[in-house]
Amino acid sequence: MTKPRILVTRKLPETVEVRLARHFDAQFNLSDRPVSAASLYAAMREFDALVPTVSDKLNEGILTTPERRVQMIANVGVGFNNIDIETARKEGIAVSNTPDVLTDATADIAMLLILSVTRRAYAAERKLRDKRWSGFSIVEGLGTSVQGKTLGIIGMGRIGQATARRAARGFGMKIIYYNRSPIEELDFEAKRQGSISDVMSEADIVSVHVPGGGAAPIVTAQHISSMKPSAYLINTARGDSFDQDALIAALKTGKIAGAGLDVFESEPHVPDDLLAMENVTLLPHIGSATIEVRTAMGMLAADNLEAFFSGRELPNVVVAGRR
Ligand code: DGY
Repeated sequence: MTKPRILVTRKLPETVEVRLARHFDAQFNLSDRPVSAASLYAAMREFDALVPTVSDKLNEGILTTPERRVQMIANVGVGFNNIDIETARKEGIAVSNTPDVLTDATADIAMLLILSVTRRAYAAERKLRDKRWSGFSIVEGLGTSVQGKTLGIIGMGRIGQATARRAARGFGMKIIYYNRSPIEELDFEAKRQGSISDVMSEADIVSVHVPGGGAAPIVTAQHISSMKPSAYLINTARGDSFDQDALIAALKTGKIAGAGLDVFESEPHVPDDLLAMENVTLLPHIGSATIEVRTAMGMLAADNLEAFFSGRELPNVVVAGRR
């Protein structure tokens, strides 16, 4: 029996590639350079499935390529704002994602950003590396403690909850949150607020955990303007989950105290304004970047591909697709 042809758009951990090569006629990307839009168009006609990730923009034009052969897209990522889901649905293309396995790693990065910005870690390390540190001081470079402070979570899904749990149990923070639908049971204390503004205006630190990919950011300029001048904004979700320009303006004018960002609106572009600020910690989208987690994500994508091509239900269905 001929094996389904799959295109793996970026380099995956070795063990995942070995598994995919066993089950599929797989084309890998050994250089790990992002695939061009033109190559994605061509791939839609040449492969049975794609294994893309956040850096591959699968828009309407690409998904509606004439004489399409692709029947399934096994996205390596829990977020799927890189794929036009509505068009995939209309076209009957199955889509899966990789939830759960990256929840803890991403919540760890949210905590890392919270601690980094409140303790001014970037400015402190920069001073040391620039050889400007003249020795211990009791009053210089002081940050602010997180214990007893209020963490506002926007989007209390899996990663929002994991972040809140760490903050509440490990760091003694109070938790408030906004989530569209009520959440039945949380295993830590947290108060649900009626709106995003309610959370943003009360919290000392706001952590964003809502998906991007909408027509407009969920966290708007108005929401950001309701934050306290002493507050910090953290984002490990997607760069378009909040209004990046409004955040930069708020940081420049001192309307908020700082920000910790792992994601940006037009990755890999990071605005110069942000690069120049010492009160922000900037990471290059590494929320799930551990060898264990990236391997688990790849394995989950492989599970979904194998399920699809053996006629089984997708374990992580985003779009069921038409066979
Ligand atoms: C995810 O899984 O969504 C990560 O952000 C990597 O894309």
